[in-house]
Amino acid sequence: MLITAGPTHEPIDAVRFVGNRSSGRLGVALADEAARRGWAVTLLLGPVSVAPIDPRVRTERFRTCTDLQALLARHTPGMSVLIMAAAVADYRPKVDPQFFGGKFRRLSTNLTLELEPTPDLLAEVSARSTPGQYLVGFALEPREELLASARAKLERKGVDLVIANPLETMDSPAIEAIALGRDGTETRTGGAIPKAEFAGWLMALIESRAGRA
Ligand code: CTP
Repeated sequence: MLITAGPTHEPIDAVRFVGNRSSGRLGVALADEAARRGWAVTLLLGPVSVAPIDPRVRTERFRTCTDLQALLARHTPGMSVLIMAAAVADYRPKVDPQFFGGKFRRLSTNLTLELEPTPDLLAEVSARSTPGQYLVGFALEPREELLASARAKLERKGVDLVIANPLETMDSPAIEAIALGRDGTETRTGGAIPKAEFAGWLMALIESRAGRA
């Protein structure tokens, strides 16, 4: 089982980045729970301070979307389940090569940062996935658009299961989720539950659909 967790940090220069508030806690809890259930787990973990407790989890670190793309290319061929819990940046700064190894100096004028879109890593994995590989994505959405937008992501990214959760989930110790299956099924946590408890809930759901370790 391959699990990704945490934010990406997209460099502006050698010392600054554009990032997000993802804590990585959910993906780490999923990795610990999967190892406990007997899965061989590889966790691709972003720049966060949390780490798995279970020594059986193999952890590899990434910082940028490009790092994660390379790790996914290496690890996806042999996996049976992917849980893409990482909060991958949608845009990254177009870094001026002049500042790659250095530091942008303070100016007294306004500064405009140009951003370019990043590749959709989950859609890339799904495009090259093989039969039998089970793909799970997350959809972080404003409450009003939760279901419609998550269903659209299920199709657009070509995954088997999308976990829809409201924006407040990011950086919070609890999660309220609806799992939308490619087969039209809809399974709810029924209110917000701690992330460690959610990990057990999601693993049981995945095992009932994709099979056990
Ligand atoms: N994702 C990804 N590559 C990206 C952005 C997101 O693989 N460049 C993955 C996330 O890990 C998550 C899923 O896609 O599993 C949905 O992420 P989300 O941020 O909710 O959706 P976006 O694709 O960014 O779409 P939108 O901006 O419309 O919300």
